[in-house]
Amino acid sequence: MTQKVAEIFELHERLHEVHASRRNIGFVPTMGALHQGHLELVRHAKRANDLVVVSIFVNERQFNNPEDFDKYPRNPNQDLELLSAEGVDIVYFPKVDELFTQEFKAPGFHFNGLDTCLEGASRPGHFQGVVDVVYALFQHVDPTKAYFGMKDFQQVAIIRKMIADFALSVELIEVPTIRSEQGLALSSRNLRLNEAEKTEALVLVNTLTFIEKNYGILETTELLERARDQIRNSSLKLDYLEIVDKQSLKPLSTLQTEAVACVAAYCGSVRLIDNMLLIAR
Ligand code: PAF
Repeated sequence: MTQKVAEIFELHERLHEVHASRRNIGFVPTMGALHQGHLELVRHAKRANDLVVVSIFVNERQFNNPEDFDKYPRNPNQDLELLSAEGVDIVYFPKVDELFTQEFKAPGFHFNGLDTCLEGASRPGHFQGVVDVVYALFQHVDPTKAYFGMKDFQQVAIIRKMIADFALSVELIEVPTIRSEQGLALSSRNLRLNEAEKTEALVLVNTLTFIEKNYGILETTELLERARDQIRNSSLKLDYLEIVDKQSLKPLSTLQTEAVACVAAYCGSVRLIDNMLLIAR
């Protein structure tokens, strides 16, 4: 049966015996408003661990726009039902003052520029907020494996570096993006799109697919310009569209065997992101 935990001492008490008996803990950190993308992470965790913990915490620190934080969808009861149906063992709803003090920062983490490009350029401080909360959650849950979706490609690159830099004992499991039947990358933000906007937003996946099909065929600068035009000619407002190195996330203007195309755009007032792995043809 799924146990709902809100107090940190309860979480520690429940996990103590699991750690003591050296059983595996799979951990899925979320901000709630769960969709099939989250449930896919949970299913991966269920298959590979003795016990699964999901946290639900809308982390104010990672929102650089207070309005976005206020508007972030919150459906705790529905989330709990979905997670019970998946057989999750513990759903943890952290209290902010138990998770970290106001001054708390993940100790001495150097982003090496991973936090200022792409999402970081448009959302200053966002990734420090992510690292703070994920680091704090890892301290409390001490999971064997932690599951993150590749839709947040940059977030995954940063968490990968954080785990390596701090030599944390958790294994990072990177789970491919789940898409709607039409191809829209699933996101809690999609709840704020109406039906027409959901169709308009498909320009993102269509453009990424165009890049993927032509990577190595068209010259990279031309490919990018043509792709950017596809979005500029749609009803979406382009924030960025870049082809970047998989590790450093630095923009590439010349061909590299493998790369990633990353995009962010506004559909109405909703900011959407997506990405696609590129292999040169
Ligand atoms: O990807 C998310 O939902 C959040 O950034 C995370 C990892 C739960 C941290 O708040």
